[in-house]
Amino acid sequence: MTAEPELLRERAAAALTAARVRTAGLTDAVTEAELTAQHSPLMSPLVWDLAHIGNMEELWLLRNVAGRESMHPEIDPLYDAFEHPRAERPKLPLLSPDEARRYAAEVRGRVFDLLDRTPLEGTALLDGGYAFGMIAQHEQQHDETMLITHQLRQGAPVLAAPDPDPPQGPLPAAEVLVPAGPFTMGTSAEPWSLDNERPAHVREVEEFWIDTVPVTNAAYQEFMADGGYREERWWEAAGWAEIRRHGIGAPLFWRREGGTWLRRRFGVTEPVPGDEPVLHVSWYEADAYARWAGRRLPTEAEWEKAARHDPAAGRSTRYPWGDADPTPAHANLGQRHLRPARAGAYPDGASPLGVRQLIGDVWEWTASDFLPYPGFRAFPYREYSEVFFGPEHKVLRGGSFAVDPVACRGTFRNWDLPVRRQIFSGFRTARGAVPAGSAGQA
Ligand code: AVJ
Ligand code: FE
Repeated sequence: MTAEPELLRERAAAALTAARVRTAGLTDAVTEAELTAQHSPLMSPLVWDLAHIGNMEELWLLRNVAGRESMHPEIDPLYDAFEHPRAERPKLPLLSPDEARRYAAEVRGRVFDLLDRTPLEGTALLDGGYAFGMIAQHEQQHDETMLITHQLRQGAPVLAAPDPDPPQGPLPAAEVLVPAGPFTMGTSAEPWSLDNERPAHVREVEEFWIDTVPVTNAAYQEFMADGGYREERWWEAAGWAEIRRHGIGAPLFWRREGGTWLRRRFGVTEPVPGDEPVLHVSWYEADAYARWAGRRLPTEAEWEKAARHDPAAGRSTRYPWGDADPTPAHANLGQRHLRPARAGAYPDGASPLGVRQLIGDVWEWTASDFLPYPGFRAFPYREYSEVFFGPEHKVLRGGSFAVDPVACRGTFRNWDLPVRRQIFSGFRTARGAVPAGSAGQA
């Protein structure tokens, strides 16, 4: 995609501003004490995310792109995610909430001056406004991280949003057959795609069936009621050990009261809604459910083929519905709501084969390890993707209600440890169409 420099500048400025509005909403919602507290050992204090957002912006846009000196060299190591694990960050001499806000705002002021003056071409970081788009995505990713911290925090609700109310329509068939054949996976064209999404390459995929909607709470409760958490045969050994060790018997944030399952959602306790995609499950739980159901998780290649392959046009599109940027009619994205929409929603966001909600609502666990594509090159830093490649991380696709459209597309790849469930994770299932035993795992 080529665009006029003025249009690119506007797009970059709008993406940065939207991210900062969201950051302010998430950090202004709680007291100073709650900004500096650690709400879970899995998470940083919110004030760390805030200053880290500013520090990454300074590093990439002011130091690397514009060649400036560090504004405060003494704080740089505090906000390097690889220097200090999350659990240790509350003990560091971090900037106070006011200092962090002022620092992030000062960086942003200088970045807007730079964006006004710099050509958006000539180096890999400047071409297409790449570094600006990367930093807007980075801030939005930390906004999702901060929303996870909000979900983990105890106490009365401080965030509010209307419930999703997408158009009603008849539910599609439970699954569709995706025909065998090659498709283009990844991208070399999407201007702000991150290194792990590149390059575009052809993948052969056997025919397979895939669920048209994510697995719901009601379906997941059937697995629970059938003793799914008590039967070792459904579980990978490490997953079985994990649920035994921690006494896990339901998705995170669920608790049983009398005969009903309740969940806590951003400080509100409510009955678990049966028609909503299941949320806050680990890869092990998703995998066990799929096995119990006589199915399996889709591979990452299967997921992306279901999401992007347009059989009529014979090419891959940016989104399931085509190449147009997401609108509120397509998908539940951008924290417009604080929950997934019911399964089967957003008919306008369906793929050509009728698969719904691939984008938005819940991140979807895939069967696949997080690995580089053929021809991968780390850019602009190894610590974004490359150091995480390997069998210990599983890929999630499609984004959740907490993901901003700037950081969501059919090629976008997320990853996490298979035990994690504080993230906004759910799944859908698949099955091979070829006789058992000969189904290929891509
Ligand atoms: C892509 C979501 C796994 O939060 O660890 C943020 C994104 N990378 N800062 C993460 C990220 C650097 C990353 N995930
Ligand atoms: Fe970061």
